[in-house]
Amino acid sequence: MGTLTDVNSAPLGFLDSGVGGLTVVHAVRELLPAENILYLGDTARLPYASKSPEIIRQFADEDVRFLIAHGVKMIVVTCNTAAAHALPRLLAQYRVPILGVIEPGVAAALADPKAERIGIIATRGTIGSHAYQHALAQRRTGLVIWGQAAPLLVPLIEENWLEHPATRQVLQSYLDPLLDKGIDTLLLACMHYPLLVPMLKELLPPDVRLVDSATTCAEHLQRELTRLRLLAPVAQAGKLELYLTDLSASFLQLARQFLKQSPGRIRRAVLGGKSSPTARAAESCCLPACG
Ligand code: DGL
Repeated sequence: MGTLTDVNSAPLGFLDSGVGGLTVVHAVRELLPAENILYLGDTARLPYASKSPEIIRQFADEDVRFLIAHGVKMIVVTCNTAAAHALPRLLAQYRVPILGVIEPGVAAALADPKAERIGIIATRGTIGSHAYQHALAQRRTGLVIWGQAAPLLVPLIEENWLEHPATRQVLQSYLDPLLDKGIDTLLLACMHYPLLVPMLKELLPPDVRLVDSATTCAEHLQRELTRLRLLAPVAQAGKLELYLTDLSASFLQLARQFLKQSPGRIRRAVLGGKSSPTARAAESCCLPACG
């Protein structure tokens, strides 16, 4: 068992199906610059949203094991699809504190006491799980909630079509049914979507409140770290270590975009076989190529 300082200095582990969760990492680095961060993006098996709930739970379990094997002090499941399907099982199975993105997103949506008509956009997997709809309805009675699956948004964002007319058209067609219902709040339930906030602000009427879960997730994490006395020593200069299960130049470019800075060296993660010599050799691969 390490000393308190060892535990506090240990990294926070983030897991995602890809690089979308780096929007949360960006927000966390702004708010908690002393924290060391270890990020795992399962790019080899992305997208999770099109997989069955059972396979998503299996992937999330392997992701968590990888992070625990790397000594993290707390885990944040930034993939909404994984949080929607796997969080209850992960919480029951592991002792390390694990946070999902649903609770902070729901709390942020309900931060306005006048919020009554809530629209959610997310992947098909997240909407189909009803995790957000249930969490919202449990916290406030009398809400009217609509979930809109928006499966084309992740690929468009990954293509970097953030200002493209095709993206605008697709986004508009996802928003129209929600706007027709007279929503007063739009909850972005996928960590890719904060990149579309400028376009969303142009398309949404001014009286619709936009809830971006990346910032609220960082604030929730800060409260949890404080409550559990797990905050990093203030003098520490937090480092970011990025692991992806598949390395390609396009992920490097995307990671830069989500993080709003250079991600530095990205290592290849091998899930389910960390201790084998093959896995260790694979993990030593990195982008840009190791010199
Ligand atoms: N990470 C997923 C989410 O936040 C989007 C990408 C995927 O389907 O894997 O729901």
